[in-house]
Amino acid sequence: MTVAIVKKPSPKKSKSKVKYSIAQTVGRLHDSGFCQGSEYFRHKDVILYQGDTLNEYLFNREFIDLTVTSPPYNVGIQYNSHKDELTYEDYLEFSEKWIRNCHRWTKPQGRLILNIPLDKNKGGQRSVGADLTTIAQKIGWKYHSTIVWNEGNISRRTAWGSWMSAAAPFVIAPVELIVVLYKDSWKKTTGSKVSDINRQEFMDWTNGVWTFNGESGKRVGHPAPFPRELPHRAIKLFSFVRDVVFDPFCGSGTTLIEAANLKRIGVGVEIDNHYCEIAKNRILNETGTLNFEEETDKPKRPDNGVFPKTSKSGYTASGNR
Ligand SMILES: C[S@@+](CC[C@H](N)C(=O)[O-])C[C@H]1O[C@@H](n2cnc3c(N)ncnc32)[C@H](O)[C@@H]1O
Repeated sequence: MTVAIVKKPSPKKSKSKVKYSIAQTVGRLHDSGFCQGSEYFRHKDVILYQGDTLNEYLFNREFIDLTVTSPPYNVGIQYNSHKDELTYEDYLEFSEKWIRNCHRWTKPQGRLILNIPLDKNKGGQRSVGADLTTIAQKIGWKYHSTIVWNEGNISRRTAWGSWMSAAAPFVIAPVELIVVLYKDSWKKTTGSKVSDINRQEFMDWTNGVWTFNGESGKRVGHPAPFPRELPHRAIKLFSFVRDVVFDPFCGSGTTLIEAANLKRIGVGVEIDNHYCEIAKNRILNETGTLNFEEETDKPKRPDNGVFPKTSKSGYTASGNR
């Protein structure tokens, strides 16, 4: 049995009156030469680099307040420029490299929000979530918590193992993990200190089971996008307004769209030219039209298709399907 002690949230000042510093912009970051990658696209305060996240020299300093990302899952997805079918040992080596690079580029109070599979059932059972969390901690990330993302997918399973027999049944959980890690200290004492999360959102999202549908790869034109709701929640819950939000596997640009709409500074890296173009078009189409520097009433909320509405798309990057 779990006994939870719930503190009453203290009343907050009206957010519309809060002014925040604009000392940090993506233009300044870029002009300071912090990235060796080639700039693919810039819009408002988000910037997309075409480059390789495995390159430890891609960025030359600690600049990240919050990373929100979903790496390749190594489940045989047909990406243009990435081989998604490594041996498990090579996949762990790949994971160690990029998680170490993110650690190198993260500010002392920075955080890493890592969307990964719980496990892998094809080609041998693997505890992917546990293995990547262990690697991250070995590198120096500190563990904070794990959110279970219930994607609400209607099961189309056919792999039962030994049907109705205890001989060798298969158990598959239709969920993914969102692991919450941080670099040195959990408490944020730097940055704008302006939060834009409301009371209901805070109460709902600090419950560690998140339920919303996956995104349609077909709709977005990318084989494994996550839904906007995922970075939307992560950014509002774990970062201040004007923090630098990073996605080292930017794909179709979902994290950058939410960063732009939530008045954060967005930095993304994507290895593939075609996906950079998709991200660029999405960012142009799905971010608000107001200038970043201006005060807006409310950031645009995504249409997130909240569970239990059934998903037509069905496709997610999950290792289980
Ligand atoms: C699971 S997808 C990310 C999807 C993204 N969250 C979205 O919503 O569209 C992983 C992405 O990482 C990219 N990628 C793979 N290896 C990479 C590398 N070494 N550096 C940068 N990007 C890479 C792939 O091309 C792919 O677009």
